[in-house]
Amino acid sequence: MARIELPNIGTPDTIIGGRSARDGYQRGWGLMHAGLAEQVAADRLYQAAVEASGGWSLMVEAKRMNLFLILTLFADRLEGRDVIEFGSFRGGNALFMAHVMKALHPKAKVYACDTYAGMPVTDAARDLHGAGDFAEASYEALAKRRDKLKLKNLEIVKGLFQDTFPAIARKQPKFGLAHIDCDIYSGVKYAQDEVWPFMAKGGYVVYDDADAPSCIGATEAVEQLVMERRLHSEQVWPHWVFRAGL
Ligand SMILES: C[S@@+](CC[C@H](N)C(=O)[O-])C[C@H]1O[C@@H](n2cnc3c(N)ncnc32)[C@H](O)[C@@H]1O
Repeated sequence: MARIELPNIGTPDTIIGGRSARDGYQRGWGLMHAGLAEQVAADRLYQAAVEASGGWSLMVEAKRMNLFLILTLFADRLEGRDVIEFGSFRGGNALFMAHVMKALHPKAKVYACDTYAGMPVTDAARDLHGAGDFAEASYEALAKRRDKLKLKNLEIVKGLFQDTFPAIARKQPKFGLAHIDCDIYSGVKYAQDEVWPFMAKGGYVVYDDADAPSCIGATEAVEQLVMERRLHSEQVWPHWVFRAGL
């Protein structure tokens, strides 16, 4: 990986309200205004990880870059570096993260959790998505690509989070990053509540879609997290980002 220079901004390196405003500014403001996106785009590890993802992710570029920065320059400093994605769909972003982690910390696990058969039943009063959305995913195709790319660190976990996460938890993981990208209230609420005790101190809880106009149920779940845990955000662009246990 080439050396990526984070912008040198004036905000002090202080934890206030459970997050580092400086770290959030470095990533968000850096990507938007200070040439960080160009640096990431030119990075060989980033380029190779994008290639590994095979165009199989719905994620927008700024979010993928932010995840790259978190994995390479921020979660890298934590004591636990396992990664979990709640909502992987075709698995492109999981392949991306597994490629990055294989290069940096091959012993860390990357869990890609999804039904791989589409959305479960949703709550019509909160969610715009309905059961069966995103059904065009394939566990088998993802497993085949993972094996072809020799990403032994990637564990594909098929089924409802509510059924599959307890077995992951029994392995006592320590997550540096939890990427929550499941669009609906029930999945987001379950993921954020259950993953919290397994986050490394300062671990990153990152939401892909809680700011999306099609995901008010996800927004509601995050609002509850903020109220229950009295948290401040470390970043709101390109992602909503929180830190666990600071
Ligand atoms: C927007 S897609 C994920 C996109 C993916 N991260 C990407 O980069 O392309 C949301 C996914 O969440 C999954 N999902 C939602 N609730 C779930 C639950 N309770 N258990 C398992 N999967 C769930 C759906 O099956 C769907 O594939």
